[in-house]
Amino acid sequence: MSSSDPKNSTERAASGFSNTPTADIIGVLNAAYSARAREGVGASYAKSVAEAFGYTEEQLKSVPEEAHLGLSCGNPVAAASIKEGETVVDLGSGGGIDIFLAAEKAGPSGKAIGLDMSPDMIALARKNASKKGLKPPHVAFVQALLTEPLPIEPNSVDCVLSNCVINLLPFEGKVILLKEIHRILKPGGRTVIDDIVARKPLPENIKKDLLAYISCISGAILEEQYKSLLADAGFSTSDVLLVDTKKDLSVYYQNGENQVATSCCTPAPPGITPSKPDFDVNEWVASFQIYALKDGSTTENPPTALLRWWDAYPTVESSPSFLTAEEVAALVRDPTASKDTAIIDVRRNDHAGGHVRGSHNWAAQTFHDDLPAFYEQFKETSRVIFYCQSSNGRGPRSAGWYQDYLDAQGEGSHKSTAYVLKGGIKNWLKMFEGQEDLIDRD
Ligand SMILES: C[S@@+](CC[C@H](N)C(=O)[O-])C[C@H]1O[C@@H](n2cnc3c(N)ncnc32)[C@H](O)[C@@H]1O
Repeated sequence: MSSSDPKNSTERAASGFSNTPTADIIGVLNAAYSARAREGVGASYAKSVAEAFGYTEEQLKSVPEEAHLGLSCGNPVAAASIKEGETVVDLGSGGGIDIFLAAEKAGPSGKAIGLDMSPDMIALARKNASKKGLKPPHVAFVQALLTEPLPIEPNSVDCVLSNCVINLLPFEGKVILLKEIHRILKPGGRTVIDDIVARKPLPENIKKDLLAYISCISGAILEEQYKSLLADAGFSTSDVLLVDTKKDLSVYYQNGENQVATSCCTPAPPGITPSKPDFDVNEWVASFQIYALKDGSTTENPPTALLRWWDAYPTVESSPSFLTAEEVAALVRDPTASKDTAIIDVRRNDHAGGHVRGSHNWAAQTFHDDLPAFYEQFKETSRVIFYCQSSNGRGPRSAGWYQDYLDAQGEGSHKSTAYVLKGGIKNWLKMFEGQEDLIDRD
């Protein structure tokens, strides 16, 4: 193998970057990007970076200001030819800019799913989505590590986007993610990736500079390495194109209103002083747009791309108590207690058999979006008891979301507490067979 052989240089890059363990690098990145999500960035800085990488005034006006934080290195949606009804996934979705632009193109029948490891980025993107009135399953933001299997069904996505993220992954993570992109794309699906690519092999001092790594420089691989990883991931060489966009990367080093940005991508992590690198960034790295097509074609449209619908909502913090079927039956039969009790069936398509007498139906899949209305209806009800089929999944989850919502309102603003019916409707129907005062039939 010659020294210019892509495989050979790929191996060198794999052993190159630094002695910092992978988990630590990801942790440092997480802290740095989470800080950017929480603290934001000057609006005019963010706008000038976005415009430098091809976002139009009209596009920027169509999204909440906080959806772009001066972290992009391209405008993948502009090149992705997204059509009505398509399913789009954005890897490392940040404040959500590319998801909002993609959702606009995919229309109400399409889906746009953003994945990001930073809980603060996900919270910010969800907040931005709600400002635009966008919600799951049309638009979803899901916390996920891109170096692990993605929470997306195989062969389910028309278009995978990514904007200035893949360079940040440790080398093994890049290998995994490109394979995952191939796995989740439908046959005939496409990926459009904007990323920082190395113009020439990076010297050790740059490779080992943690701040330059976080700033999307040190983790950049060569064009040939990228092609080789895409081929290893399953994309045919003839279906891959890498284009140097020739954008000036020094745009990141302008003085922002409230900070000096350190480069594509981020303010320095805690404990590191932000500074402009002491080398010419444009000499070593460039912004590329990368296109790849998955072989084949399909007319099948899987109903969902997201593996677990609840990933699109916040993780439950509280753990509501369970009530036994006997305890709940006693409440249903007691006219005084039943006035101050609400029983909530959160099943949607699996109603066979019947319901607990007097149940209200609120489907778990849309329950989180319905919380404000639900709260208004039940805040003065002392016991709100949730169930599903066996009360293992949707019931406890919906109860937890309600309890979290109650907790956020503060004491004194309501009388309500969330509970879960132990064993769900399955156990209820078995226990109380023939006792029709406890059962509403369909
Ligand atoms: C440079 S920013 C780009 C954000 C967005 N694409 C944009 O253009 O505004 C990189 C994003 O990737 C996320 N990220 C970095 N490494 C990741 C990883 N290993 N897994 C998941 N997300 C990651 C960060 O949290 C951050 O939001």
